[in-house]
Amino acid sequence: MSSNTVAEFAAELNKPVSLLLEQFVAAGVDKHAGSDPVTEADKQRLLAHLKAAHGTLGQERRKITLTKRSTTEIKQADASGRARTIQVEVRKKRTFVKRDDEAERASDAAAQAEEAAQAAELARLEEEARLQAERLRQEEEELARKRREREEAEARAAEEARLAREAAEARARAEREAAALKARAETAVATTGESVADEPAAPAQPAADEAVRAAAERAEAEQAEQARRAAEQAAEKAAEKAAEEARVREIEERRRKALAEAEAIRAMMAQPRKVLVAKKPEEPKPAAEAKPGIKGTLHKPAGTPARPPAGAPAAPSAKKEVKSEALSSSWKDEAGKKKELKTRGDSGPARSGSNWRAGPKGKPGRGGRDERGASAAPASEQRVIEVHVPETITVAELAHKMALKASEVIKQLMKLGQMVTINQSLDQDTAMIVVEELGHKAVAAALDDPEAFSEEEAVLYQGEEKPRPPVVTVMGHVDHGKTSLLDYIRRAKVAAGEAGGITQHIGAYHVETPRGVVTFLDTPGHEAFTAMRARGAQATDIVILVVAADDGVMPQTREAIKHAKAAGVPIVVALTKIDKPEANPDRVKQELVAEEVVPEEYGGDSPFIGVSSKTGQGIDELLENVLLQAEVLELKAPVDAKAKGLVIEARLDKGRGPVATALVQSGTLRVGDVVLAGQTYGRVRAMLDEAGRPVKEAGPSIPVEIQGLAEVPLAGDDFMVMADERRAREIATYRAGKYRSTKLAKQQAAKLENMFAEMAAGEVKTLPIIIKADVQGSQEALSAALLKLSTDEVRVQLVYAGVGGISESDVNLAIASKAIIIGFNTRADANARKVAEASDVEIRYYNIIYDAVDDLKAAMAGLLAPEKREEVIGMAEIRSVFVASKIGTVAGCMVTQGHVTRSAHFRLLRDNVVIYTGELESLKRFKDDVREVKEGFECGIKLKNYNDIQEGDQLEFFEIKEIARTL
Ligand code: GTP
Ligand code: MG
Repeated sequence: MSSNTVAEFAAELNKPVSLLLEQFVAAGVDKHAGSDPVTEADKQRLLAHLKAAHGTLGQERRKITLTKRSTTEIKQADASGRARTIQVEVRKKRTFVKRDDEAERASDAAAQAEEAAQAAELARLEEEARLQAERLRQEEEELARKRREREEAEARAAEEARLAREAAEARARAEREAAALKARAETAVATTGESVADEPAAPAQPAADEAVRAAAERAEAEQAEQARRAAEQAAEKAAEKAAEEARVREIEERRRKALAEAEAIRAMMAQPRKVLVAKKPEEPKPAAEAKPGIKGTLHKPAGTPARPPAGAPAAPSAKKEVKSEALSSSWKDEAGKKKELKTRGDSGPARSGSNWRAGPKGKPGRGGRDERGASAAPASEQRVIEVHVPETITVAELAHKMALKASEVIKQLMKLGQMVTINQSLDQDTAMIVVEELGHKAVAAALDDPEAFSEEEAVLYQGEEKPRPPVVTVMGHVDHGKTSLLDYIRRAKVAAGEAGGITQHIGAYHVETPRGVVTFLDTPGHEAFTAMRARGAQATDIVILVVAADDGVMPQTREAIKHAKAAGVPIVVALTKIDKPEANPDRVKQELVAEEVVPEEYGGDSPFIGVSSKTGQGIDELLENVLLQAEVLELKAPVDAKAKGLVIEARLDKGRGPVATALVQSGTLRVGDVVLAGQTYGRVRAMLDEAGRPVKEAGPSIPVEIQGLAEVPLAGDDFMVMADERRAREIATYRAGKYRSTKLAKQQAAKLENMFAEMAAGEVKTLPIIIKADVQGSQEALSAALLKLSTDEVRVQLVYAGVGGISESDVNLAIASKAIIIGFNTRADANARKVAEASDVEIRYYNIIYDAVDDLKAAMAGLLAPEKREEVIGMAEIRSVFVASKIGTVAGCMVTQGHVTRSAHFRLLRDNVVIYTGELESLKRFKDDVREVKEGFECGIKLKNYNDIQEGDQLEFFEIKEIARTL
């Protein structure tokens, strides 16, 4: 072999040296450099390793990977309408793996996956640590920068103070010098004078005198000149000093300013929250004095005389106030951010105090002039905001929630292929996609989720909590006296006005008892009204469980107990009809204990009160107990707030349109409010109390009937007052759309279900029905009751159920689906009647549910395949057998019992064993065809399709009778 080193071998194989080295190491051969020698043995080991790894030569290939790439073009119009060609490249990769040593590979794969997961986890942890370190470092830098700034400010102040001191000294020196000079000049003048005075002492020497005078004059001139110069100098110095003083003042001022600033920074760093809380920008400050030369306004505490800032020792603290106020708005935002981050749970311990400070010098963040963006720290990392997305949201609102400009959101939507405007509403799904695309976290928010509202909106539903009346639901088995009991309490005759004396919807009344206001919800006791009882329990604070003392615990009593327990509300038991002689309250008590409703006297928590609606016995005690329970609950609700509550009943009124009975649960509902109720909305046009009197407003726990909704809401829907009609409409339509699509999906599922059911049950007869009722609750109950009638053989198919009168379209639907129409407390209008008559559609009217149920039962019985019963009518004995060539075999018989008819069926018995069953072909007496032959007569009978008869055989005749069946 020619190659002796790794590098040479690599050149020979046409491979990079590094790869070869890697392969050598993998094969267990210790090679680290290109210059390492390679022996033949090494090469063999490498070969063996590679073979093992790739499975060449002797071994079969275990794995084949196919990669396929195809490119296509699609043409699509873009937003501006121009056609664009888009290249689409599809890459498919498929790996086929041989399946023999699956277990091994599986374990390998598992090990690899685990390794990969571990590696990923490690990488993630490392990345996290790195990020953490990076954050810490940034924070430290920030701190250091702050400290430096403060030190610099202090140093500057010290330097300026020193300069001032020096200037003062210089001035003092100059003054001193000037004074000295002046003094010297005066002495000089004095000496010259003296020498002149000496002159007359030597008059004999005029020349000398002259000389002296000249000298004296010179000296004088010299002195004067000197004095003048000194004075000039002094003046100069004085001017200089004045200038110096001015500068000193200025410096002094600057120093104070710097000190104040440093002080403010220190104060803020020490206790940022306190500053934030203490200062509210909206609180007006008295006696503000503006001083030119100082930025901002200086707020003095009330009573402090306004002082010029120069030399005022109180100045720093005053400055501090100015600073903190200027900062407070951005501080508030920071606090808000912090809260958001906290919900995310990543505000680590490293983040504390000053790190949160976004100084006034902080550069505006991504949001530019945006409120939050403006105060955001100049962070390189993007903050992930948890955005609560309600069912609909406008682009502007969404942008605000993410602290972005609306244009950025619009841009993102354009990228997603949607052209929207800033005021356009987005549905929840789209909005959530946008939020995620922009790197934030989207959370779907329910409508009444306070997070879904902007702060101002959420505040509208809050307010001072005040005591409210209790909502008490009366539940119990049918005819146990619920309505009579309420009736007695209200002293009105409601039960008498009800069709059949049976409650068919929830009645809501608020009653002013001598002991306080109580709101009662009356529920129907019939089994069909489970949903209504459930709704009643849901809206209630206390349940009065009505059990007739003469009847005891019944199925709906049990159900009522279940509902009350599920709602977690206290139960007060009213044992009604206590006045009846057959009343046995003790037995009823025992039965209730078995249902885990334990009387107080047995150590339980439910008061048991025997009452009579006839004599009024125990009613006061019952009310007292109810109010006692209510007191314990300490029921409260905001009053001065927008209303929220529950729709307890809704119907379509002929004159008034959709009418809903609503129970206000918090806030106050007023005429004119915009209400969103389930899938519908509207402005409250009028409100009536339970007695039909118009009211202007309804507070917490008060039931009212409201008009003005666009459609009939569903009983049990939540309602809430919205600030803005547009938003209410948006949410309502959105919900309706969503509801439609789910309904559609359900219908399809039902169809499939039908198919399977029909396939399984062979042939199933269906009875299609359409129900129109006056109120939602009865419609629900009637639908449920009728659907329950379905048996294995006849299935009730509810084609449509709705609230309102029977219209032409309902009749058309009935024609199309071959359904019968049931009108419950509603009638067909003239058009509908005409169409129904013309096309023979059956419309039935009811005002009692149970009548409808009974009738339908009967109708369904008609649809059941009639039962066929055989009825033996006679017997005959074959006495002789004739074989006629043209006719075939004819039996000559004697009717021994009963009679035989031409249309009868027969059974041929030989030695009492049935040989054949069939029909007669002809029945003759002598040569004539007859219909019937009576006992004791002879006749000739030809059997249809059967000739093997013998003398002595017996014929048993029977008829098949169809008997209509009942359910
Ligand atoms: P549904 O609404 O159909 O569930 O029935 P309900 O529980 O409201 O019963 P309702 O008040 O209609 O009373 C049923 C019957 O019992 C009526 O005939 C009442 O006159 C009678 N009744 C109710 N309370 C009393 C009572 O305290 N004493 C007597 N003797 N009869 C009563
Ligand atoms: Mg009733």
